[in-house]
Amino acid sequence: MANYEFSPMPRDERCCRLSRRSRVCLCLGLLVLVACAVVLAAALTWSRAQTPEPLAWNGAGTTRNLLELVLGRCYSYTQLVRLDLRSKDCPKILDAFKNAFISKNPCNITKEDYEPLLDLVNQTVPCNKSLFWSKSKDLAHQYTRVQGEMFTLEDTLLGYLADDLTWCGDPGSAELNHQSCPHWNECLSNPGSVFWKVISQKFAESACGVVQVMLNGSLSEPFRKSSTFGSVEVFNLDPRKVHTLQAWVMHDIGGISSDSCSSASINELKSIVTERNMTFTCQNNYRPVRFIQCVKNPEHPSCTSEI
Ligand SMILES: *[C@@H]1O[C@H](CO)[C@@H](O)[C@H](O)[C@H]1NC(C)=O
Ligand SMILES: *[C@@H]1O[C@H](CO)[C@@H](O)[C@H](O)[C@H]1NC(C)=O
Ligand SMILES: *[C@@H]1O[C@H](CO)[C@@H](O)[C@H](O)[C@H]1NC(C)=O
Ligand SMILES: *[C@@H]1O[C@H](CO)[C@@H](O)[C@H](O)[C@H]1NC(C)=O
Ligand SMILES: *[C@@H]1O[C@H](CO)[C@@H](O)[C@H](O)[C@H]1NC(C)=O
Repeated sequence: MANYEFSPMPRDERCCRLSRRSRVCLCLGLLVLVACAVVLAAALTWSRAQTPEPLAWNGAGTTRNLLELVLGRCYSYTQLVRLDLRSKDCPKILDAFKNAFISKNPCNITKEDYEPLLDLVNQTVPCNKSLFWSKSKDLAHQYTRVQGEMFTLEDTLLGYLADDLTWCGDPGSAELNHQSCPHWNECLSNPGSVFWKVISQKFAESACGVVQVMLNGSLSEPFRKSSTFGSVEVFNLDPRKVHTLQAWVMHDIGGISSDSCSSASINELKSIVTERNMTFTCQNNYRPVRFIQCVKNPEHPSCTSEI
């Protein structure tokens, strides 16, 4: 009785008619799906043909979240670090930065590409407050952070925006190349090298009064003509504005301490500076900087007796 009630003929028929209809629907649906897939595949192939793989280079690719980092650093610098630059337009600065290299061959970047960015920022460092460095970046930055008034290149807005970042675009697209960027030994006209050269030159040109350079006395050549300081900065100091260049030659704590100021390497720097009509002075282990080195090595004999 119960079975009879549960499987009546009309019910079966209704079911089969329904499933026939749904079979048709399924076929139609599948057809639409296949059509969609074909269109999608065609679109994908086409778009891939439009945006070919970016050029491949030997250097590291663009830093992740580059644009967010640059914009964030710009706000941080102008709104928190140097309030005298409060009125700078960070989105506009980011655009000028991007436009310097986006959609361009990263081995064909020129100084002119960064000109709009430089004009937009146009920051000047007060006289007597410029600190150059070579092979002593960390110590120089620790010093300016504590000292509070002096500027390394990375304490200016442009240097601050780009410090430790890598970036490049690709001629085939408006995207950043996150896979790879030219290493400096592949080409010198890459976005990073040109940027640092241009802003180092500008930083040196605008220096005035007494300027300082921190050099690394633990190296056999504290001054190297091939460094940015030795090839760009020292030759762009303007003798009409810069009176004296003071070198601070810092030796690593625990390393061999020698009189680097009388070394051949420093003498070479001295002749370049004096030939360019500026006064040159040199000091081994400039005390205020030595104190900073000693913060990390308070028990070292050179920190307890010498000072
Ligand atoms: C390099 O850039 C210059 C100016 O931006 C352009 O005239 C030249 O055609 C470019 N060369 C290559 C090889 O992309
Ligand atoms: C940059 O600033 C200096 C002085 O602060 C000013 O004389 C000069 O005209 C400015 N340059 C640009 C391009 O705004
Ligand atoms: C820069 O330093 C020199 C020498 O110490 C000093 O005569 C001059 O007044 C200083 N200039 C400024 C703007 O502080
Ligand atoms: C000097 O150079 C060496 C080797 O590159 C480095 O380990 C050291 O930290 C540098 N010293 C200073 C004071 O920057
Ligand atoms: C240095 O000064 C001398 C004499 O005042 C001048 O003839 C020479 O051109 C100057 N050199 C530089 C690089 O400014």
